Amino acid sequence: MLDAKPPPSSLPLPIPLLFLVLLFSIAAVSFASDYACQELSTSCGSVTNITYPFWLANDPADLFTHCGYPEFMVICRNNTPILSLATDNYTVTDIDHDRRIISLADADIFGSADTCPRVRHNLTSLTNFSLAYAPSDTYLTFFFNCNDDRTEYTVPCLGHAGGNISFVLTDEMIENNSLVPDNCEAVIVAPVLRDHLNSLEYELANRYKEALQGGFELNWSASTNDTCSHCEQSYGRCGSNMTSSRTLVFACFCSDGRTESYNCSGSHGKKKKKKLKGTQL
Ligand SMILES: *[C@@H]1O[C@H](CO)[C@@H](O)[C@H](O)[C@H]1NC(C)=O
Ligand SMILES: *[C@@H]1O[C@H](CO)[C@@H](O)[C@H](O)[C@H]1NC(C)=O
Ligand SMILES: *[C@@H]1O[C@H](CO)[C@@H](O)[C@H](O)[C@H]1NC(C)=O
Ligand SMILES: *[C@@H]1O[C@H](CO)[C@@H](O)[C@H](O)[C@H]1NC(C)=O
Ligand SMILES: *[C@@H]1O[C@H](CO)[C@@H](O)[C@H](O)[C@H]1NC(C)=O
Ligand SMILES: *[C@@H]1O[C@H](CO)[C@@H](O)[C@H](O)[C@H]1NC(C)=O
Ligand SMILES: *[C@@H]1O[C@H](CO)[C@@H](O)[C@H](O)[C@H]1NC(C)=O
Ligand SMILES: *[C@@H]1O[C@H](CO)[C@@H](O)[C@H](O)[C@H]1NC(C)=O
Ligand SMILES: *[C@@H]1O[C@H](CO)[C@@H](O)[C@H](O)[C@H]1NC(C)=O
Ligand SMILES: *[C@@H]1O[C@H](CO)[C@@H](O)[C@H](O)[C@H]1NC(C)=O
Repeated sequence: MLDAKPPPSSLPLPIPLLFLVLLFSIAAVSFASDYACQELSTSCGSVTNITYPFWLANDPADLFTHCGYPEFMVICRNNTPILSLATDNYTVTDIDHDRRIISLADADIFGSADTCPRVRHNLTSLTNFSLAYAPSDTYLTFFFNCNDDRTEYTVPCLGHAGGNISFVLTDEMIENNSLVPDNCEAVIVAPVLRDHLNSLEYELANRYKEALQGGFELNWSASTNDTCSHCEQSYGRCGSNMTSSRTLVFACFCSDGRTESYNCSGSHGKKKKKKLKGTQL
């Protein structure tokens, strides 16, 4: 950026060359700030706004300096944004930064051509995440391959292997214990949006795929990690930095372009630090 000053010349620069110099200095400025912490929206497929605290990785094996919460990594594969929760991958359908809501759908079901897909991903426990199931969610519970003679709420298209049947129940149905089948091969819980479920009403057993494809929502708040929240309290953004020994370490990206190891209040002149501390307490 400093090198891009126009040369002190008595001859007027040819116009095209002046343009080039200008272009390069603009490029240099935006590159520098992008590198510190990506400010621009990044998109993958139809999802725009994949920005802090989310971040877009092109290849999960490609560990590089990034700005965002570690578990908020979005991978773009075949123009489809994917978020991993524990070991399960979900397709990202929307990120709403104002409402702090990310919309997801089970990746297996979302792209499936099967009209009667079998759910494999069980509800993921999000206890240690800065993400939570949103109040707009409710849950479908699938009971697969049950040795049961109940006839209500069976899913006909999931087959009758050896006389066994499968069921799908909503939370409201499960409250009635007499409806819950026992003696089943597997029980899988899947989050869905309450609004999508309500629109299916009595057709759930045949149209549950629509509810699953409609996905569910997670809300996020400030980081649950103390190291990161100290950084954010100093108006920094959390991320990680690759050291020369190729290990990833925590980094706090400050709005003035600095990259700090802890927060943005430190190592910026002692007077300023004292003043900041005074106003914070
Ligand atoms: C989830 O996606 C990652 C990254 O593409 C991939 O390596 C992993 O195998 C996927 N996991 C599952 C369970 O499909
Ligand atoms: C991206 O997010 C900003 C701020 O939340 C919002 O104003 C803008 O409309 C969003 N853009 C898209 C394409 O969703
Ligand atoms: C959450 O984190 C705590 C402390 O780091 C740990 O003891 C606990 O096992 C974790 N729980 C899960 C479900 O990962
Ligand atoms: C529970 O389900 C059974 C069987 O469908 C039904 O007869 C009963 O009325 C239900 N009880 C309640 C409290 O909804
Ligand atoms: C029927 O269900 C029972 C109980 O889950 C299971 O042990 C049995 O293997 C199932 N039969 C078939 C043919 O899948
Ligand atoms: C799925 O989760 C439910 C409730 O959390 C649990 O009862 C069930 O055993 C789990 N199923 C599998 C296949 O892990
Ligand atoms: C999600 O939203 C609920 C209800 O508004 C709130 O209680 C919860 O703390 C939020 N969780 C996160 C991680 O933002
Ligand atoms: C980030 O990594 C670079 C290159 O390895 C290093 O010079 C810099 O000091 C690191 N910053 C922090 C905050 O660790
Ligand atoms: C917080 O994040 C830092 C850096 O990523 C990590 O070293 C530390 O273990 C995290 N702490 C908790 C409680 O998860
Ligand atoms: C900010 O970082 C400095 C060191 O750079 C440290 O002395 C100070 O305790 C940190 N403050 C907070 C709130 O984490």
